[in-house]
Amino acid sequence: MDEPEALVDALLAARSGAGFERSEVRVVRAPARVNLMGDHTDYNDGFALPAAINLALEIACVAASDRIVDLELAATGEHGIVDLDAIGPRQGTCLDYVAGTAWALAEAESSIAGFRGLLRSTIPTGAGLSSSAAIELAVAWALSGPDGPSLAPMTLVRTAQRAENAYVGVMSGVMDQFAVAMGRAGMALHLDCRTLAWRPVPIPTDLEIVVCHSGTPRRLQTSAYNDRRAECFRAAREIAAREPGVEALRDVDLGMLERHRARLDEVAYARALHIVTENDRVMATETALETGDLEGLRRIFAASHASLRDQFEVSSVALDTLVEIAMATPGVVAARLTGAGFGGCTVNLVERGRSDELRRALARSYEARTGFEASVYVVDAADGAGIAWPPP
Ligand code: GLA
Repeated sequence: MDEPEALVDALLAARSGAGFERSEVRVVRAPARVNLMGDHTDYNDGFALPAAINLALEIACVAASDRIVDLELAATGEHGIVDLDAIGPRQGTCLDYVAGTAWALAEAESSIAGFRGLLRSTIPTGAGLSSSAAIELAVAWALSGPDGPSLAPMTLVRTAQRAENAYVGVMSGVMDQFAVAMGRAGMALHLDCRTLAWRPVPIPTDLEIVVCHSGTPRRLQTSAYNDRRAECFRAAREIAAREPGVEALRDVDLGMLERHRARLDEVAYARALHIVTENDRVMATETALETGDLEGLRRIFAASHASLRDQFEVSSVALDTLVEIAMATPGVVAARLTGAGFGGCTVNLVERGRSDELRRALARSYEARTGFEASVYVVDAADGAGIAWPPP
């Protein structure tokens, strides 16, 4: 991404009639995220291991004395307007994330003010890299004073999640907003999605994170995602009826799941099996990263992909093909689909300096095999949302 200062210049040029001073402009930035391990575990109170990455969304903004948000999209020149004193129902456009964040912050009694802004982003939309959580967190910073949102960090995370759940109407878990808000350069973040306790896990410096976008649309994602949630809750309910300590699949281990297998329908059992084993894989991935166990990482990622494909049924021919090509490419340590699935991306750990081999392998056969074009992003784990300009 260009320097934030270029966005400052662009805002001043676009609003030259407004008489803004350069010193009044701030640039807020929120990163994308990729999940290294632990998918669909967040809404089951389980564990996840995401990282914020250096694809990002930035807003250059000037605080306004009125209650109007006027946000221009650099890519199209379109303006979105939100009146903070008259936030209506959702419109079904990307402005919903702006209005929803303002609504949720107001509900949480965080003080907000209008602004004039210019937004640009290097996060591909519809790729499953949390561009929506990035809008929410960037807007939360833009709506707040120079010191940032007045809420405690985890309250801000929950508030952004509420914008998505209660206003936009997508029943996602907490992982995306957490990772986008709390990212740390060079680190994955081990998150307990029940307590929100977390710790940074260093990513070995001899590994690169490579995100491969399958180029496939994620139609059906919302309804299929909600179906998976319901199936997981059904399994948890059945088991909880006979196991007093169980509130969510997080509380179930493999032995317990097998004891109650006969009571579960086949689908609920398969979904639960994924969640129970995926939680273990988050712990195992953390250990393998800490000890530099590359063989272990390869095995754990492969098991996760197989489980997401066969038990959770959220993979696709495109995602399976990306993983298959990656696993046959020298220098690729580990590969799996990441995020919700139903299209979107894979995450790959690659020996540093060897990502071109993966790029070439995909160019050779991915499109021929699937009819889709892959995009490859070599990324670094990055810091979470905050002020990108002026420098501290
Ligand atoms: C989406 C949701 C997250 C999480 C992932 C799957 O990204 O927004 O809350 O459930 O899917 O791990």
